[in-house]
Amino acid sequence: MIKVNDEIELTIEKLTYKGLSLARHYEDEKGFVVFVKGGAPEDRAKVKITKVNKTYATGEVVEIIKPSKYRVKPFCPLFNACGGCCFQYVDYDFLLEQKNNMLKEAFLQLDYEVEFREPKKSPKDKQYRHKVQYRVSETKNSKRLLVGYYREKTHDIVNIKYCPIQPPLADEMAQFLRDNWHLGAYVEKTGKGLLKSFVVRFSSDIKSALVTLVLNIPYEDFPKYKDEIIDYSKKMREKFPQISSFALNFNPKKNNCILSNEYEYLDEKNYILENLISSDGTKKTYKISHDSFFQVNPYCAASIFDEVKENIIENSTLLDAYGGVGAIGVWASDKAGKIYLVEENSQAVDDAKCNFKINDCKNYEVFLGDAKVKFAQFLKEKKKFGSIVIDPPRKGSDKEALDAISKLSDLIIYVSCNPQTLVRDLKYLDTLGFRAVSTRAFDMFPYSYHIESVTVIKHV
Ligand SMILES: C[S@@+](CC[C@H](N)C(=O)[O-])C[C@H]1O[C@@H](n2cnc3c(N)ncnc32)[C@H](O)[C@@H]1O
Repeated sequence: MIKVNDEIELTIEKLTYKGLSLARHYEDEKGFVVFVKGGAPEDRAKVKITKVNKTYATGEVVEIIKPSKYRVKPFCPLFNACGGCCFQYVDYDFLLEQKNNMLKEAFLQLDYEVEFREPKKSPKDKQYRHKVQYRVSETKNSKRLLVGYYREKTHDIVNIKYCPIQPPLADEMAQFLRDNWHLGAYVEKTGKGLLKSFVVRFSSDIKSALVTLVLNIPYEDFPKYKDEIIDYSKKMREKFPQISSFALNFNPKKNNCILSNEYEYLDEKNYILENLISSDGTKKTYKISHDSFFQVNPYCAASIFDEVKENIIENSTLLDAYGGVGAIGVWASDKAGKIYLVEENSQAVDDAKCNFKINDCKNYEVFLGDAKVKFAQFLKEKKKFGSIVIDPPRKGSDKEALDAISKLSDLIIYVSCNPQTLVRDLKYLDTLGFRAVSTRAFDMFPYSYHIESVTVIKHV
């Protein structure tokens, strides 16, 4: 039996969800599963065992004996420190194949067949990330500002000066912050220091940006710092005319959440306008505010929205559930009859109302509230929808919401960012008489293990 700290030779079989690879240590015919950090399929590698459980072990590559033909040189100089794009050492096309296999494996939990459509690449595999959420801290003695992501499995900040998956303007803004912010930064150990995070969202043409500084103070303390922060914001805008709106967020809580619900806007206009073009050339414009969700990779988002639109029923009512700023509802509005949108974030709801208007959609209703509560209301009112699109957060939907959905329509299109919760929900939908017919993977986050998918589910 293998033990912690053993170094054993293994051949890597495949990549797995959560960023590890899988190999087997053959003490019997079946082989004992070892999840290996840093392995690529077909590598022969020496692996140091870091943990042994009853059914599997974990380990990390310490030496590559025979490299896989799928290995490539990571393009980011911080690859080993940052851990943000865990599979950067794997050839992009092969990685997409592997991610599609991860989705296929998750679907094996269903006891019926589903058509797998050809996975779609991200139209851009560099500079695709249009929302950046950097943590900020400072060094102990020199008080030098550190701006970047956490090093994997730690709360140490990797001071990122160049990140190839984000627009270069994000690097320039972070550098400006390092050079010009003199009001101190948050130190987790002491819980003290003012600036906690730097958040920026760019429109896809990079001509406008929403900047948010997250402060480690309650809103009531803002007047103490107001003048200096406003001075800083003016300087930053002079340097970056792309900033359309500058906001402050107050988050003195010691938790992992970057943002709280408390904002102060330094501008009257607190949004950007995003233009996305569909595959048939139709342009849609979206108002996006600081606190509203919008897809991180706008290039890939457009192809996901196209897929949803292709699958909804023409000229019938569409329920856009977990609808955000109406990204999907607006996209589908020239095919659907009437759109109903449900969303729990009030800022996103305001944006959605505006987005239906600015895109000349006249037949819509927007509801603020929890999905399952609104669905129950629709049931009471005996509403029926031609199609329902659900695009829940990573944790998926829930039984109450799915119970209601199953009575509101015979066609569900499920946009998912987590194959595990998707399959959990599909299993539950199966008990309600609904089965997935087809699915397609979309690579929203190239070089990470994340995989988005659009699944068409029908009443059987
Ligand atoms: C993954 S986003 C999708 C948004 C939108 N479909 C899009 O593509 O931009 C999920 C959205 O669901 C909303 N949400 C999360 N839980 C919810 C709930 N229980 N009820 C209603 N909306 C919810 C979030 O605020 C967020 O806007």
